[in-house]
Amino acid sequence: MPTLFTTPLTPGLVAHIALEAVNLQRGNTWVFESLSLQFAEHRIGLIGDNGAGKSSLFRLICGLDQPQSGHVYLPPAASEDAAPWVGMMFQNSDEQIIFPTVEEELALSLRHLRLSRAEAQTHVRTWLATRGLADWAPRAIGSLSQGQRQHVCWLALLIGAHHTLLLDEPFASLDLPGQALLRQEMAAAPQQIIVSTHVLDHVRHFERVIWLDRGHVRADGPGAQVCAQYEADVATRAAHAINKT
Ligand SMILES: Nc1ncnc2c1ncn2[C@@H]1O[C@H](COP(=O)(O)OP(=O)(O)OP(=O)(O)O)[C@@H](O)[C@H]1O
Ligand SMILES: [Mg+2]
Repeated sequence: MPTLFTTPLTPGLVAHIALEAVNLQRGNTWVFESLSLQFAEHRIGLIGDNGAGKSSLFRLICGLDQPQSGHVYLPPAASEDAAPWVGMMFQNSDEQIIFPTVEEELALSLRHLRLSRAEAQTHVRTWLATRGLADWAPRAIGSLSQGQRQHVCWLALLIGAHHTLLLDEPFASLDLPGQALLRQEMAAAPQQIIVSTHVLDHVRHFERVIWLDRGHVRADGPGAQVCAQYEADVATRAAHAINKT
């Protein structure tokens, strides 16, 4: 079940990301009304129909959008030069990538370290080389396929040393080997990961999955259970739709 707060949280004292009584309007749509959630688990899946609010939730957590009322709490940074607590991989990689080459894009994730340009470049090249990707450093983003750009977005998150990674449909453009690799790398990553996806097999094994339905939490619990509930609901709706035709 979603966590509902009985007493207000204290800013700066939270141990994990939390939303408290959040109301969010985007355009003319009220996306969330009094949404309260805590994100303590190591692996959390986010599922739900198109327009349910998955990307909006991520945008709130990483500060791209501000709620009309309510609060989004993040734990305090350990030090001034710590990486931002959350890093986000956008649903559309073209919204995330801003630099013309892979190494420049990855260097952006190191800005909290306040390195010189040359130091950041060396750091990125060394890091890529340890992953067997040395040849990716100088590649022009414009020359990469959609799936390859998505991989660059993932690399940019990994090098950034965030505590929590928000992955918005990260498998969407990846081929099957790319999906398998991302699954492996996600499994090995020490960071907390919150991932939205329409491919339930990517989160079915997670300790926690949240099913968002038009901005409300419809189910919240172990991945296998919540995914089965969502699939059953989709099957029922599909059967009704066929009966109407
Ligand atoms: N920029 C915007 N202006 C107005 N309404 C918006 C905007 N962005 C999203 N919305 C609306 O907010 C609601 C939630 O959208 P959101 O993108 O968070 O859904 P989602 O669960 O990520 O969907 P999808 O599975 O298609 O990615 C939808 O009703 C959508 O139409
Ligand atoms: Mg989305």
